[in-house]
Amino acid sequence: MVKITSRFIRVGLVAAMLGFSGCRSEPQKRTTPEAGASESKDQRAAPTDVGLSVLKSDVKTFGETADGRQVRLYSLQNANGLKADIMTYGAIVVSLQTPDRDGRMDDIVLGYDNLQDYIKNSPYFGAIVGRYGNRIAKGKFTLDGAEYTLATNNNANHLHGGVKGFDKVVWGDDPVWKDDAVGVKLSYLSKDGEEGYPGNLKATVTYLLTNKNELRIEYEATTDKATPVNLTHHGYFNLAGAESDILGHVLMLNADRFTPVDEGLIPTGELTPVKGTPMDFLKPTPIGARINETYEQLKFGGGYDHNWVLNKRGKGMTLAARVYEPTTGRVMEIRTMEPGIQFYSGNFLDGTITGKEGKVYKHRWGFCVETQHYPDSPNKPDFPSTILRPGEKYETVTTYRFSTK
Ligand code: BGC
Repeated sequence: MVKITSRFIRVGLVAAMLGFSGCRSEPQKRTTPEAGASESKDQRAAPTDVGLSVLKSDVKTFGETADGRQVRLYSLQNANGLKADIMTYGAIVVSLQTPDRDGRMDDIVLGYDNLQDYIKNSPYFGAIVGRYGNRIAKGKFTLDGAEYTLATNNNANHLHGGVKGFDKVVWGDDPVWKDDAVGVKLSYLSKDGEEGYPGNLKATVTYLLTNKNELRIEYEATTDKATPVNLTHHGYFNLAGAESDILGHVLMLNADRFTPVDEGLIPTGELTPVKGTPMDFLKPTPIGARINETYEQLKFGGGYDHNWVLNKRGKGMTLAARVYEPTTGRVMEIRTMEPGIQFYSGNFLDGTITGKEGKVYKHRWGFCVETQHYPDSPNKPDFPSTILRPGEKYETVTTYRFSTK
């Protein structure tokens, strides 16, 4: 049975009575697993009958891991009715519902209906990947004169944090309420030596669903030893609601250059101009328009699976990508503080996964747009550094904004 705490009721009811879109509260702190305290079994929820002009947040148990860890699912709703379900296992966005041009809501991310399927077999559906998103060649790097060996899980290479990355752990959780957004702050302590990385890394990822129709992701981390850090969100989007492949989605990438790779998808270290190649998405172009062209980089990736070098001025938020889905009119705009974006066209999806509502995810049924530092940066001194040192704070923000046209 779902228990409702008085605080959440008060916040929701006051908001409903005043009819304003948004409410402020300082809900009770949740206990995070790394604090060592026992997990309380209570669940809290905002009332579900307060109408659409208020932010809503509801939390329930989604399942349990094999070692008995309870996994919670936050259901967030903004004042315009957009919904995001986020669970504490893998910091995964389980569903994201946005309207099409006729106001019809649909879930625009791939994933599963239940926790066990995520645990059994997930190609990082909707997860936060870390400690290092994407590949580190041979799982090795040298830092301050010491060589480190990481877990390898992608042929000879290290991918998305290793065998048990941030996508496969249970995060601590705190609900977040702001004037114009509702969310959840997830926290994870990655211990010194985990998957071979140096230093205790305290990471937090705050998901906010804002009344500007954005999913905003704020990443923070600190460490007690120098370590590479590169966190990103691995959502698989299909703006038409996963009824067909994503080849008709029209993509713009704000990047004059990309980082070409070898056969193992490790960057060569060059920054190559996109001009005159199928990698040029400066002008909005359907994803499928050139994906089968004879071009070595597309052959290596089995399609698009590359990092683009974003055109940026300074460290602030930059428009990185815009995706338009013509049949539904949905538009997603991505802004980020990161210098790069991995555009992956779902090449490894092959129809062997049956996801939410029994939908079979066939070849290129979803795409990922992962804001990040460039792959293999710890071995590429000319790439922007990914090293976080004690006393420094890793802070980066990415937003996904939804609209229609
Ligand atoms: C990588 C792909 C990989 C996929 C995993 C992407 O970020 O670039 O190469 O296969 O994640 O599902």
